[in-house]
Amino acid sequence: MLYPELYRQLEEARWNLEKDVPWDTFEAARSTEEQARTIKMNAITEWSALPATEMFLRDNQNDSDFSAFISVWFYEEQKHALVLMEYLRRFWPALTPTEEELHAVRFTFDPAPANETLMLHFCGEIRLTGWYRRAAQWHTEPVIRTIYGFLASDEARHGSCYMRFMKRAIERDGDTARLAFSRIGVLMTSRKTGRAMHPTNLHVSQSHYPRDTVQSRLPDPEWMECWLDEQIHFNEEEERRVAEGILRKLGGVLDQQFESAHDLRRYRRELEGQIRT
Ligand SMILES: [Fe+2]
Ligand SMILES: [Fe+2]
Repeated sequence: MLYPELYRQLEEARWNLEKDVPWDTFEAARSTEEQARTIKMNAITEWSALPATEMFLRDNQNDSDFSAFISVWFYEEQKHALVLMEYLRRFWPALTPTEEELHAVRFTFDPAPANETLMLHFCGEIRLTGWYRRAAQWHTEPVIRTIYGFLASDEARHGSCYMRFMKRAIERDGDTARLAFSRIGVLMTSRKTGRAMHPTNLHVSQSHYPRDTVQSRLPDPEWMECWLDEQIHFNEEEERRVAEGILRKLGGVLDQQFESAHDLRRYRRELEGQIRT
């Protein structure tokens, strides 16, 4: 079981919402409405851990270890939403998300294979770590910079936890898991889609199409592209770093060395060939 150990690790790294956030160092002159609006969208996006948790528990009914870990993951993600909302409540109260706005991102995701979803979220956590690091630099107000720093570290830890479950999946499922991870890995490191590759930006419910991505259910469905391109400037170089991180870590999980997305595509093709024969 991984849950007891991961629980301990995350407990040790835990920051306190009241005591560790330097609330009294807020500098009004360095806070802008443009920046506060992006905090609101991030808060609602974090709230979507709620439907994701419902999905994880439903699709992992045969895996109590992973389901138990999700209790900690869910707690931390909801805390991310909460700390961002607390910031807005204190300093930009008119921009605090309403309960209706939060509830709008709760919808049922279609059932999906557990290993694919695991890999998707592993990549999502790595990418989000990079986004929040950039957000911490872009913001000019010191309290929110500290908060995004905490969030980035948490997301990186979540990625490491998912990686542990991926290693365990390979021990259990062998090539089926390897293939699931490499397929999603190809998708998540490809730059051809022109769309931010993150679980909250993917279609997850046919019956809700086209409002079946978390992003499409935000008060401003277009904000993410603007946030990435024009505000935090998550550019080609940053994207390259994310892809390299995914390839390096996935290589560790699969006992391979992937220098590029091309190497991963070749590995996936070879694996598909082996499984067919
Ligand atoms: Fe989060
Ligand atoms: Fe996370």
